[in-house]
Amino acid sequence: MHDRRIRAAEGGFGGCVWRDRAVNTTWDPAAYLAFDDHRARPFHDLVARVTAVAPRRVVDLGCGPGNLTALLAARWPGAVVEAIDSSAEMVDAARARGIDARRSDVVDWTPAPDTDVVVTNAVLQWVPQHRELLPRWLAALPRGAELAMQVPGNFGAPSHTLVRDLAAESGLVLRGEGSVAEPAEYAELLAATGAAVDVWEITYLHPLTGPDPVLEWIGSTALRPVRDALDDEAYASFRAELAPRLRTAYPARPDGTTWFPFRRIFAVARVR
Ligand SMILES: C[S@@+](CC[C@H](N)C(=O)[O-])C[C@H]1O[C@@H](n2cnc3c(N)ncnc32)[C@H](O)[C@@H]1O
Repeated sequence: MHDRRIRAAEGGFGGCVWRDRAVNTTWDPAAYLAFDDHRARPFHDLVARVTAVAPRRVVDLGCGPGNLTALLAARWPGAVVEAIDSSAEMVDAARARGIDARRSDVVDWTPAPDTDVVVTNAVLQWVPQHRELLPRWLAALPRGAELAMQVPGNFGAPSHTLVRDLAAESGLVLRGEGSVAEPAEYAELLAATGAAVDVWEITYLHPLTGPDPVLEWIGSTALRPVRDALDDEAYASFRAELAPRLRTAYPARPDGTTWFPFRRIFAVARVR
């Protein structure tokens, strides 16, 4: 239905593929920050399990707009804070916040020898090869270093399946859910490196308000690849078709609250 209006973006670390071509995902820092309170919860739960007291270097891989990187800098004021992100918009937003972020792909990152903490929050779901990267990073980190990661575990939820269904009806093929593993797989993968491993999952029940809040939430994340692939008119029509399906899957309560369940998977590995 939208085929005529699909833009053919070139190359990049994709969120979606259309007719075998990878499509860049662009980010809108302001839209992403619209739910910053809810989105920050898993970050707090993740870094609460990091025990480092005086790390020399703390790295935020996929730092986004830098609001959470700033919390790392505040917790460890003596550390050099390294922040990278592949999105120019996100790097600009982080830099505007005083974070010395640079534009780079996590695939190309290697730990400096003094790296004691690595945090990567809500990023690796965009990096299909992260199962190979995790052991490589751990092998290069010094003894005692901690690597903390969190990925969404909700690719089978209606917020994602409805997008994929509608995309398929529209001739768009979105990235599959295989890019994120189950908790036990992360535990095995990380433990195989000899690290001490702590893996868990949490399903948050976010109380959202306002019209079509789930559509608004995914508009700044899961819908980015669709946004990039369609022109304005086609994207508006995609959203208009998606909205009632999401409303059925996530009905508003009489008081206006919409409960949005969101499963997340966490792992912290400490090098021994
Ligand atoms: C959902 S945001 C999370 C941002 C931040 N970590 C947070 O928790 O708020 C995902 C971020 O990952 C970045 N990203 C995605 N793929 C990446 C890659 N291959 N290398 C570096 N950054 C990447 C995106 O640009 C985006 O800023």
